[in-house]
Amino acid sequence: MRQSFASWATKPSIEVKDSVADMVFDLVAKKLISIEPIESRELRKNFEEFFQGMLCFPIYFPGTSFYKCMQGRRNVHKRLAGLLQERLSKPRKKHDDLVDLLVEELQSEKPVIDATFAIDVLAALLFASFSTISATLTIGLKLLTDNPIVVEALKEEHEEILKERGDKNSRFTWEEYKSLAFTTQVINEINRMSNIAPGIFRKTLTDVQVNGYTIPAGWLVMISPMAVHLNPKLFEDPLKFDPWRWMTHDQTKRNLQQRNFMPFGGGLRLCLGAEFSKPFMSLFLHVLVTKYRWIKIKGEEVLRVAEIIVPQGYHVQFIPITE
Ligand code: HEM
Repeated sequence: MRQSFASWATKPSIEVKDSVADMVFDLVAKKLISIEPIESRELRKNFEEFFQGMLCFPIYFPGTSFYKCMQGRRNVHKRLAGLLQERLSKPRKKHDDLVDLLVEELQSEKPVIDATFAIDVLAALLFASFSTISATLTIGLKLLTDNPIVVEALKEEHEEILKERGDKNSRFTWEEYKSLAFTTQVINEINRMSNIAPGIFRKTLTDVQVNGYTIPAGWLVMISPMAVHLNPKLFEDPLKFDPWRWMTHDQTKRNLQQRNFMPFGGGLRLCLGAEFSKPFMSLFLHVLVTKYRWIKIKGEEVLRVAEIIVPQGYHVQFIPITE
């Protein structure tokens, strides 16, 4: 992360979503399938093509979004299937990544997965990691730029950590992460307002009564986290970016907010990446406020189609803080 920031700071400006997506994807691709950044960029391009056409008219003809989406999907599948095949042929060579574990399972006496499942898992994790965190941090950076008083409070918390550290350049530790009370509220508030997941899906197993309506058994239910998180009955002044709302002393309000906060879904299908995303975002904020200041260059408009988008991108310039 420090390397990425340092490289961004050498440029007149960077587009946040794309740059953060590169950073997350490079890291995750290395951990999951041991490929280096040069190679992972090509794979990310395929994922991007897939993503662009995920919600579009399914007209399969060269040039259409759907066609590009299917080509992207095919290329991702081809690359991952080839990689798995290669690893299956040399199971003794270890890479200390997720593919090692999948190969071990596939070659065990009674495997509980097959190759198709293994490829799906890799594709799903690679895709879910970069598309979510990059969108959230882009909206997050915009919210911070528009709310300098939050940035000041964040700085205070992170400078406190630096003071406690002997070596200012030493690594961010788990204890430091857990001590970040205000940062946690900022991340909650970014998640509450960005609502990058357009829906959470469930199927009713029995008839369910909701507010006098009956949802029959077998129906597909889509919960919109945005409708909940921006409901003024649950979150006062919902369009205000207010991390302090999470610290309210009003216990009833606090319970109501917490019960209705679902950026990562809930229950058995809770997002698998939630506990990866939160430290990742904390570390991002830590490097951001302790080492850099930034100026917005371009990108005011934020729109929601199904997912949240920043049509012109969000462009900022990072400037190292010199002591
Ligand atoms: C800000 C970041 C993220 C947000 C807001 C987010 C949001 C969500 C939501 C709302 C769900 C549906 C949960 C449900 O049905 O109850 C979900 C599922 C999932 N997420 Fe995330 N996610 C994020 C990051 C990640 C990352 C980084 C990964 C992987 C490394 C990931 C992997 C998954 C997977 C595999 C599922 C499916 C879980 C299942 O069905 O059992 N997510 N996520």
